[in-house]
Amino acid sequence: MGIKCAKLLYIWYYVIYMKKRLLSGIQPSGTLHLGNYFGAIKQFVDLQESYDTSIFIADFHAITTVQNGDILRNNILNVAMDYLACGLNPDKICLFKQSDIPEVTELAWYFNCITTMPFLERATSYKDAHMKAKEVTVGLFDYPILMAADILIQNADVVPVGQDQKQHIEYARDTAIKFNNLYGETFKIPEPIIMKEVAIVPGIDGRKMSKSYKNTIPLFGTNEEIKKAVMSIITDSKTPAESKNPEDCNIFKIHKLFLKGEELKNLEKRYRDGGLGYKESKDMLYEEIISFIGPMREKRKEYENDVSKVYQILENGKEKARKIINEKMSIIRKKVGVTI
Ligand code: TRP
Repeated sequence: MGIKCAKLLYIWYYVIYMKKRLLSGIQPSGTLHLGNYFGAIKQFVDLQESYDTSIFIADFHAITTVQNGDILRNNILNVAMDYLACGLNPDKICLFKQSDIPEVTELAWYFNCITTMPFLERATSYKDAHMKAKEVTVGLFDYPILMAADILIQNADVVPVGQDQKQHIEYARDTAIKFNNLYGETFKIPEPIIMKEVAIVPGIDGRKMSKSYKNTIPLFGTNEEIKKAVMSIITDSKTPAESKNPEDCNIFKIHKLFLKGEELKNLEKRYRDGGLGYKESKDMLYEEIISFIGPMREKRKEYENDVSKVYQILENGKEKARKIINEKMSIIRKKVGVTI
């Protein structure tokens, strides 16, 4: 009876207190813009509290596109500072660098040996590259398997990603099932959390804000860069005096990310009443952006001025992540048969 009670208590405790494990990777590729923040990073930051969260910088994956050591090094540091500045909390989560767990490439090899070429040929990332008649490297072809290794080595329960990465999570699930069937129960089957684009952030030309359209407003740009982007938002040629429909205005659409309730209503009214020129609306937007990113900028400055802090955070993350990995790899090596 006592044991049964203890067991029940343990289960209850487990359900209440053991948070699910969340893992995601971020590619260290270039500068962030407002669209990245409102479309994805913000949700990421909001999720970190509810899970036992690990986030890593996917530097191995980045080598499929960045083949210059200095640029990659620079990008890794920058993405770490960007995400810390945006609110990833290194005291609560484990933030590490993928290459500090080189065992993922070992695990990817075991997976490669049980994965067929036609299975990987179905990956949209590969098909896209192939269609564009690019030379596809073995690394790019194998991208989903390395990603499966990232996820499965960490016993992740959930993996938040954008819609474009959903298929990669399916690869991870299929690979886990295949390995488990061959070698016995080893890996958890991870679930995706598909981060909807809560806000399709319009760029300065009204199309979706995206690096490839060159229509972005940088998140951590200088005041001048941000001003220049805001001033080049495309509008029609209505005079200040004319009445305007706010919903048709690219400036207004971006105001909506920053203004809420009364403030937004007032601006809307000023659009409709006439008397508000686009220049004034842009000046207001510029101020809104600057005050919104002010605190994040300050945080980023702190890290820039003391980069050793960032290295220390990544070092702590590595130590934490390695604990899980060592245990997991020794189980895997035994099953595969390389441990004699
Ligand atoms: N492919 C992901 C992206 O481009 C990055 C990534 C690498 C990742 N490994 C991962 C994401 C593991 C989630 C889990 O965004």
